[in-house]
Amino acid sequence: MHDPYGRKIDYLRISVTDRCNLRCFYCMPSEGVQPLRHKDTLTYEEIIRIVRIAAPVGIRKVRITGGEPLARKNISFLIKSVKAINGIENLSLTTNGVLLEKYADELAAAGLDRVNVSLDSFNPERYSEITRGGSLDAVLRGIDRAEKAGLKPVRINMVPVRGFNDREIEDFARITLVKPYQVRFIEFMPIGARDLWSKEKYIPVNEIKSVVEKIGGLTPVKIRKSGPARYFRFDNAPGVVGFINAVTHQFCGECNRLRLTSDGKLRPCLFSETEIDLKTPLRNGASDQEIKRIINLAIEVKPEGHSIGCSDESSFIKLKPMSKIGG
Ligand code: GTP
Ligand code: 5AD
Ligand code: SF4
Repeated sequence: MHDPYGRKIDYLRISVTDRCNLRCFYCMPSEGVQPLRHKDTLTYEEIIRIVRIAAPVGIRKVRITGGEPLARKNISFLIKSVKAINGIENLSLTTNGVLLEKYADELAAAGLDRVNVSLDSFNPERYSEITRGGSLDAVLRGIDRAEKAGLKPVRINMVPVRGFNDREIEDFARITLVKPYQVRFIEFMPIGARDLWSKEKYIPVNEIKSVVEKIGGLTPVKIRKSGPARYFRFDNAPGVVGFINAVTHQFCGECNRLRLTSDGKLRPCLFSETEIDLKTPLRNGASDQEIKRIINLAIEVKPEGHSIGCSDESSFIKLKPMSKIGG
């Protein structure tokens, strides 16, 4: 299915919960975010039905997100069921990694293809500060377990924030010299962290990249067609580094995604509050045909792009917290 701007929409990001076992400072205020009531969160059966109807519309790739998706009970059931749907070719999950050691084998056995792990520091104290109490060791063990379980390539998402972890950019890039990981640097977006984001703390990709380039020359690598990251490799390195210019970006023209929020809304664009309610019709007995029409409608109203840049932080900050959208 193509949207009115000719973009092929084949990727659905599904937030299965807005709850999280961490409180990363860039994502949530310290007191956390009022979680959805369980009855307002889509059930696995509802999510599976949506994916079953979305696959013939053209969805080929599904990413499970949160909050923290591994904090929801029996997530392997969802993985297994989504993977079994005809047409779904790639199934991945974005996690903070805390529970990955425990679940990696089970997830791989259920059919998960790969994981993206959010990790913002290799210093245990700083990691604990950034996540407000998380254990770095658990995440490192989780990444190792994921690799061994075949959830590859493991992607690591790092958000450099000036004055917090920016001195670690080089260390993160250097891992790709010894490990086959895809380490991605994401621009700090003024979303979620109302009390924390400021222009001073935000670091543009150009600056991050110039730090990484001090290590050695980077050669561009084409990893896939549509996605926010641009990838590069150091000579002979097993891994790659990627840069996601989430704020200054110009990848709307090739955006292939729709989002399903944990409260059952289809969100055509991360940066637009336009959402289309799927939960109410689902619970009011809508037919597959009606659900399909709503999915098509979400694709039809997908905006061409956004005009938000670093200078327009006021409108940006009004967006729903990331933990409710799923990144
Ligand atoms: P891959 O399929 O592995 O490339 O996943 P991904 O990069 O799409 O997913 P992930 O959940 O790891 O997200 C990484 C970062 O990219 C997060 O900070 C997302 O918010 C951001 N991101 C993902 N999609 C978009 C998008 O459409 N627009 C913007 N601005 N950022 C996005
Ligand atoms: N800016 C940039 N990235 C963010 N993420 C969450 N909040 C922000 C933000 N304000 C990232 C997490 C995770 C991904 C889904 O979104 O690090 O890897
Ligand atoms: Fe939780 Fe992810 Fe938000 Fe961190 S970024 S608080 S791990 S939802």
